[in-house]
Amino acid sequence: MSVTPTAAPVTNTSGTPTIPPGSPLLLLGARSDAATERGVVCPGDLPAADDPELAARARRARAALGSDVVILGHHYQRDQVIEFADSRGDSFALSQFAADADAPYIIFCGVHFMAESAAILGRDDQRVILPDLAAGCSMADMAEISQLRDAWARLERAGVAEHTSPLTYMNSTAAIKAFCGERGGAICTSSNAPRAMEWGFEQVEGSRLPGKVLFLPDQHLGRNTAVLGLGLDLEDCVVYDPWQPDGGLTDQQLRDARVILWKGHCSVHARFMPAMVDEIRRERPAVEVMVHPECRYEVVSKADRVGSTSQLITWVEQAEPGATIAVATELNLVKRLADEHPDKDIVFLDDTVCFCATMNRIDLPHLTWVLEALVEGEVVNEVTVGDDVRHYSRLALDRMLALPGDARSLART
Ligand code: 13P
Ligand code: SF4
Repeated sequence: MSVTPTAAPVTNTSGTPTIPPGSPLLLLGARSDAATERGVVCPGDLPAADDPELAARARRARAALGSDVVILGHHYQRDQVIEFADSRGDSFALSQFAADADAPYIIFCGVHFMAESAAILGRDDQRVILPDLAAGCSMADMAEISQLRDAWARLERAGVAEHTSPLTYMNSTAAIKAFCGERGGAICTSSNAPRAMEWGFEQVEGSRLPGKVLFLPDQHLGRNTAVLGLGLDLEDCVVYDPWQPDGGLTDQQLRDARVILWKGHCSVHARFMPAMVDEIRRERPAVEVMVHPECRYEVVSKADRVGSTSQLITWVEQAEPGATIAVATELNLVKRLADEHPDKDIVFLDDTVCFCATMNRIDLPHLTWVLEALVEGEVVNEVTVGDDVRHYSRLALDRMLALPGDARSLART
């Protein structure tokens, strides 16, 4: 078995690593193949994350870098990482922090599409670092730019493209954001999706056919937003499946629809099922159920509250001591909320463990590695976005940031 830790990654045309013929089979956790596992391993002999010396090394490197670095951390990050965040937030807040950041280096503790957004919103001379380049997002991977081009051609064939506003969730690649920006569309996050969808409809008002929004990649957030946020009917929504011929929809279905939902989902939030809400209510009749809008419509419909990551945190903070709260979102955050509020009974809605595997790729060894490399003057794991894509994705992001507040959030109380 030959392992070549220094070999350059082999990538396909979209930059995704491909597996070269004859690649070694490696035992999970024991060594790695840099040709197929880009960004997975930090070189050197970093100790395990729970080694107190490692945290001390990270703190020393952080202190040495001073104001040259800002560390941004998403709420779903591990405790060992979030401890180092200068600012923590949901994806909307983090995009604002990135746009306002002064430091020449932004270390983004989150997933790839978030780091890309920081690179788009940051200044030309700022460098964005993702401690592990393998920290992707399964939902973002469900929409490829070539599939979106095909989908748009499909809408053109059905005669509906000119009546359609493309709206993509932040959880998508920069290329998809740019596609939307170039066609007059925008971006949303879970904290402003209803306002953004309303804005999308405003852009195609007065169309001959009913104005439409193409919402991608999360069908659940799109459906929850359309039905629970804007008061449309479930029948107003159709699901476009990029893996089916013609997206699995007839021309007539496309013409009648108000919202065309991309068939994508979050592998973490889609695990929560309506029966789990019934079960927890049986077990704990006083429970308040709070869910993220990436959960299925059937789950959200049964919940007491639905809100973005930041809204969930605020509601937990505001709850009375003694309150029993079941939360349906990523487990790192729910565990942290439970630890921070011992006076409240905070439980995870699912019985089984459900971390976001890709968010968890960012760990203390990777963070220490990128910090120490920066101290040595080396930028590792930089995330960059090409000029063309940057221009139009920035347009779409700026449209989102210009939307008034989050007064039209999906928050339901
Ligand atoms: P928010 O940070 O917008 O709540 O999104 C949650 C999420 O799944 C991020 O990947
Ligand atoms: Fe992607 Fe879901 Fe993980 Fe967020 S929680 S990064 S949407 S897989």
